[in-house]
Amino acid sequence: MAGQNESTNDGSTTGSGAPAPSDRHSLTVGPDGPVLLHDVHFLEQMAHFNREKVPERQPHAKGGGAFGRFEMTGDVSRWTKAAVFRKGAATEVLARFSTVAGEQGSPDTWRDVRGFSLKFYTDEGNYDLVGNNTPIFFVRDPMKFPHFIRSQKRLPDSGLRDSHMQWDFWTANPESAHQVTYLMGVRGLPRTWRHMNGYGSHAYMWVNASGDRFWVKYHFHTRQGMAFFTNAEAAEMAGKDADFHRRDLFQAIARGEHPSWTLSVQIMPYAEGKTYRLNPFDLTKTWPHADYPLVEVGILTLDRNPDNFFAQIEQAAFSPGNTVPGIGLSPDKMLLGRAFAYNDAQRNRIGTNFHQLPVNRPKVPVNTYMFDGQMTYEHSGSAPVYAPNSGGRPCSDETGRMPEGWEADGEMVRSAYTRRPDDDDFTQPGILVRNVFDDAQRERLVDQVAGSLLGGVRSPVLERAFEYWKNVDADVGRRIEDKVRSGSAPRPAEGMGER
Ligand code: HEM
Repeated sequence: MAGQNESTNDGSTTGSGAPAPSDRHSLTVGPDGPVLLHDVHFLEQMAHFNREKVPERQPHAKGGGAFGRFEMTGDVSRWTKAAVFRKGAATEVLARFSTVAGEQGSPDTWRDVRGFSLKFYTDEGNYDLVGNNTPIFFVRDPMKFPHFIRSQKRLPDSGLRDSHMQWDFWTANPESAHQVTYLMGVRGLPRTWRHMNGYGSHAYMWVNASGDRFWVKYHFHTRQGMAFFTNAEAAEMAGKDADFHRRDLFQAIARGEHPSWTLSVQIMPYAEGKTYRLNPFDLTKTWPHADYPLVEVGILTLDRNPDNFFAQIEQAAFSPGNTVPGIGLSPDKMLLGRAFAYNDAQRNRIGTNFHQLPVNRPKVPVNTYMFDGQMTYEHSGSAPVYAPNSGGRPCSDETGRMPEGWEADGEMVRSAYTRRPDDDDFTQPGILVRNVFDDAQRERLVDQVAGSLLGGVRSPVLERAFEYWKNVDADVGRRIEDKVRSGSAPRPAEGMGER
């Protein structure tokens, strides 16, 4: 191993010193297949990453939340049998909102993506939907996630956040363009958590009572209306009240103003997942509404503040792996990577038996064969600790079927997804800039990006950034370059500065 202050260009290694098989791709069955459990390098990366910071959440450290209920108004029984989505069902919910990159104590109003986590305490166990206020994400392979988060956090020497590092990562990974366009646009500065939308972002699976499978995307539209801060307002608020979003939600609920969101879904027939013109499991893309229209299904309302922030919000453990019958994952590699990461992070962050804490415990009886370990609270007495057993303790109902599964076969490869006709990285961000943003929003985008680039972004990343934005939209890219070259953009509010 090189001395601590030496750097080598010999390539990265595993923790045990062997050449790292890949820093970019996880091991999958075929380009589109599932991530394999024996991808030791990937698992080591993920597990080690989860232990880098103790005890705050690695990403999404700063947040707040509240309890409420989800009420089903629509009928989706032809797509899913899940009890939580049965017409008329009302389910208790915990919500947590957060910023991604900031630590505990960082200002709520710095520019960032916002987390939108939900835990539904359903009659069939806990169902967690852990999404963001944007419908897409920065990368599409989970191998890149730790690298992405590190690039958004702090420099190793100065401990400062750094625009150069952010743009270095984004421009080296052009699949980030869609999410970066959202982030640099108005959604990067929501006025409050009550005034932003939430998205499941990934494609998930729904299965109906007959066993028919569908792909689904979740959209929670705020019923308060979307509202945003300008850079100047956000910067002022960051100085005046670093906890502005946390305070706003708590005080609104205390006043009896209960924020609510309408849940709509997009449904894709199972078979179309294989043939659709763009990869529906690529997390950097949305599904065009013209092809898959929104169907309204229910209403989420938050009406109860936590009694204890630490017990109910800090120790809350959300995981995209917590699904219930009728709801499954999908071939989205990011989602499959996340299915491992969260519970592992929580074993580290909260403790081995985090699921026994009241905020995480399901409302239904639990009969798990995971037992003992630090802070064990619930136990099965003298009942057998193994399955199957002749002592009368129930075991799983083995049918050999996986109703929420899909077919997968192929060579094991480390590869990008198989490319489909409309799978390029710049079409959707270009549509966002040209057809969704108005003139004023485009102008703010140009100012925001140029200001961020003026915050110490150096060659060759700077030139890559001009190219990146010209690929999104030629005119916007040119305007960004002009502003940077003339030094005429205002510096944004995002906790960044020159090192
Ligand atoms: C492979 C990709 C990803 C990995 C490995 C990953 C990992 C993590 C980890 C380890 C945490 C901290 C969990 C805890 O300590 O309780 C976390 C939090 C979070 N992540 Fe991810 N993440 C990934 C992608 C995403 C994506 C795509 C989204 C949104 C669509 C997302 C949304 C969130 C949210 C909202 C939280 C905060 C959860 C809370 O409120 O407690 N993450 N992530």
